[in-house]
Amino acid sequence: MRVTVIGTGYVGAVTGACLAYLGHRVTCVDTDPSKIEKLRLGQAPIYEPGLEELLVLAGERGGIDFDTDLTGPVRASDVIFIAVGTPPLPSGESNLAYLEAAARSIGAAMDGARFRVVVNKSTVPVGSGNLVDTLVREGIKEARPDFSGEVRFGVASNPEFLREGSAIHDSLYPDRIVVGAEDATTLAILRDLYRPLMEQKFTDPSFAPRPVKLTAVPIVTTTLTSAEMIKYSANAFLALKIGFSNEMANICERIGADVTEVMRGIGLDARIGTAFLNAGIGWGGSCFGKDVSSLVHTAGEYGLQAHILQASLAVNRAQRAIVIQKLQEKLYILKGRTVALLGLAFKPNTDDLRDAPSLQIAEKLIQMGARVRAYDPIAMDACREQHPELRLVYCNDALSAAERADALVLVTEWPEFADLNLRDLAGRMNNPVLVDGRNLFHPERAREAGFDYTGIGRALPRAGASRLATS
Ligand SMILES: NC(=O)c1ccc[n+]([C@@H]2O[C@H](COP(=O)([O-])OP(=O)(O)OC[C@H]3O[C@@H](n4cnc5c(N)ncnc54)[C@H](O)[C@@H]3O)[C@@H](O)[C@H]2O)c1
Repeated sequence: MRVTVIGTGYVGAVTGACLAYLGHRVTCVDTDPSKIEKLRLGQAPIYEPGLEELLVLAGERGGIDFDTDLTGPVRASDVIFIAVGTPPLPSGESNLAYLEAAARSIGAAMDGARFRVVVNKSTVPVGSGNLVDTLVREGIKEARPDFSGEVRFGVASNPEFLREGSAIHDSLYPDRIVVGAEDATTLAILRDLYRPLMEQKFTDPSFAPRPVKLTAVPIVTTTLTSAEMIKYSANAFLALKIGFSNEMANICERIGADVTEVMRGIGLDARIGTAFLNAGIGWGGSCFGKDVSSLVHTAGEYGLQAHILQASLAVNRAQRAIVIQKLQEKLYILKGRTVALLGLAFKPNTDDLRDAPSLQIAEKLIQMGARVRAYDPIAMDACREQHPELRLVYCNDALSAAERADALVLVTEWPEFADLNLRDLAGRMNNPVLVDGRNLFHPERAREAGFDYTGIGRALPRAGASRLATS
């Protein structure tokens, strides 16, 4: 099929590359010329493992090209994806300005030559499917007020569940595909589009192998509104799971338990599951905060108070402050101290800093008079560029970040940090305090290496208490 993907960020670039890899002919459109320029040169506009390799294969298979103008691509397409940003407004509402502009431009570009499906992949408040339909119609009218023919199109909601850092794997081997639409033609076209994914018959790329037992992917077809609600409920539930672990962690710390043991103990219950139960300094990223706030806002519009969702946001906010509290407990005074941060990205394997806990922690420390050194394997350039106001000393590696620091805070659990030589690290510091914000290190090993270690929800063993090794 001929496909246009509007927006080449974390979702659009990956979606476009995957659809072309599956054999569709794709044009990716973005209003940001620098992103299109990079893509034309074969460079990914964002850091996502495997994306550049996939772009090459996408070009060889279905074919992929890039444009700043959507008119030609939309006219030539059967399916048009909207994957533009929907960032939060200060009120918690989603900013739909980019979506509105994209939908109107799609309308303005459409003609009566064929039936087209406009698919909304951006996460938008419940009811936005109808809004896209209205905006496309308005776009058609504005562009050609005298046009009396019929412009045939359907609108679908196709929420995205990919995780940054494993976006290609998640897009090629999703747990499910959700499609919300109100008419059979639209659904049939999207079933055809996604058939290669549903049937899993394509050759898997070497850098993103198919999970061994995966033979088919279910498609869940719903109304537009249910599809939009599925996306919000999924993110709200995941945010809640992490928030729950964090609340348990805080209780564990007071009563002398270890939250990692407790979460393992509950996660093995099939009704609960082990994923998303890692306690830490709170979730971040472009989705959870924005989507939970947006759902709270939508509930409010209907006179409902979303108590659990509001609590989940509050728990996460409080959790981020824990790093500062722990540093104060260990160092008493932060003014004039040097604190080293390991990791800036909101999670490993991405350069995304949106709502990253690191930013809030760094800002607070600097405000309190501390000097902040930082190292991140990938996100330092993005941080320099997007947050020039943040007075961080960027370091070339973890060891140089730790040099003469009074405390080290593990903020992002990049896999390479797990292999650090802790003795070396502690040896370089003024004061070997380690706040392990993601419970990455083994507490006893870190203490043996010379660190004054504190994790999240991991109480110090009582004097004389023997601990059995857990596996
Ligand atoms: N990032 C994720 O992990 C993720 C996962 C699932 C869903 N989502 C949702 O997907 C949507 C996109 O997220 P993202 O992280 O890819 O955003 P992003 O900010 O990385 O990318 C959005 C892109 O859209 C472009 N754009 C804006 N207006 C445009 C227009 N009128 N025409 C063409 N291009 C335009 C921007 O220049 C930008 O490159 C959001 O609604 C988000 O909530 C994101």
